[in-house]
Amino acid sequence: MNVRFDPVGPLRGRLRVPADKSLSHRAALLAGMASEPVCVRGYLDAADTRSTLRAIGELGVLVDAREDDELIIRGCGLRGPQPPPDPIDVGNAGTLMRLLPGWLAGQAGASFALDGDASIRRRPVDRIAVPLQQMGARIDAREGRFPPFTVRGAQLEGITYELPVASAQVKSCVLLAGLMTDSTTVIEPTPARDHTERMLLRAGAPVEREALAGGGFRITVGRADELELDDIVVPGDLSSAAFLIAAGVLVRDSRLLLEDVGVNWTRAGFLRILERMGAIVLGEVEAPGALSADEPIADLDVTGAPIEATVVEPDEVPLAIDELPLVALIGCFAEGETVVRGAGELRVKESDRIATVVEGLRGLGAEIEATEDGFAVRGTGRLRGGRLDAHGDHRLALLGAVAGLASEEGVEVVGMEASTVSYPDFAGDLALLTA
Ligand code: S3P
Repeated sequence: MNVRFDPVGPLRGRLRVPADKSLSHRAALLAGMASEPVCVRGYLDAADTRSTLRAIGELGVLVDAREDDELIIRGCGLRGPQPPPDPIDVGNAGTLMRLLPGWLAGQAGASFALDGDASIRRRPVDRIAVPLQQMGARIDAREGRFPPFTVRGAQLEGITYELPVASAQVKSCVLLAGLMTDSTTVIEPTPARDHTERMLLRAGAPVEREALAGGGFRITVGRADELELDDIVVPGDLSSAAFLIAAGVLVRDSRLLLEDVGVNWTRAGFLRILERMGAIVLGEVEAPGALSADEPIADLDVTGAPIEATVVEPDEVPLAIDELPLVALIGCFAEGETVVRGAGELRVKESDRIATVVEGLRGLGAEIEATEDGFAVRGTGRLRGGRLDAHGDHRLALLGAVAGLASEEGVEVVGMEASTVSYPDFAGDLALLTA
């Protein structure tokens, strides 16, 4: 699919961005593990999150879609999933691929096969296989580290596991498996998004979090007999809002109000980076604090402003991981050199996002260099435009779209299937803001 995004006049208006993808996946999975029906409101309707509903359905969970954006999920209980006859297809969804095995690993005597699309087959699963095997499960993966793979469940033993990479997906996988052990501890040297911990707390699971001297956390879960969740309302996705925020910052004279956006502090690194760059985004973003069962929301009020370069340090990276491509784009318009360090994880996303962002923006006229674990952009205050290949990566496609709006000649985005975009009606929302 080829789509053009041409320069636009000021973006003005208010809207609600699509529901949070990370929270939608977790809502479906935890509701699937629960023993009583759970009503989920505002579940994200996109390819990745549909894969999660399909996957839990194949395991024996009943999912009923009601009117008004409501799902009723009738779980099969922590120990109830049944192996389907065919491999579970996770599609393009990395979060599903890495979280679901945590639950499946605790199903003693049962085997579950998982597979996905061509991009998923390039994404490593050894990062979850290592801790799950330490707990007693067996994971057989292609070349020891890629999908397709099989999870052979076992009676799990508790472990203490220090994350070698700051990954919320790996942390979540171990915590879900930990529900079927007496006690399991995950040590995260630098914080990553904590949606799983919050939702588990809400579901009545024994979860504790202790702050470590270096800024990280020690998270412990204990055995749960069952999970019980009240209704879940999924807030707007800050990672989707980020595309409109970037557009609002870059397109002169814009003023946008984005309503009901999730502003959990472990997701809001992008807003803190933007603030340093001089952008004006008003709204009550959560401050770091003790583990809470809530997911805070806020309305974000965005205005354009002159932008300065910044340096993003490694400890900020997990809190803004999906927004770093936008930091590169905004860096093109900043005064000075914007540098992102310690972001090697970008290389194992839906595409190698260091390579694809650098190639993509350079093709539009940016002065950007890749480093081993990030990039450096020399701000020139402008971007020519041209053609950007998304390499099948939804966040690259949306990066190209925002680049087009702020560019001189517009951007044609190629290499993206409409069906896999996590912000399905970006063009429609844009039309509302430019009307
Ligand atoms: C996610 C965690 C991050 C993020 C991804 C969603 C999650 O991945 O990039 O889009 O929902 O837990 P990692 O855990 O691999 O950093």
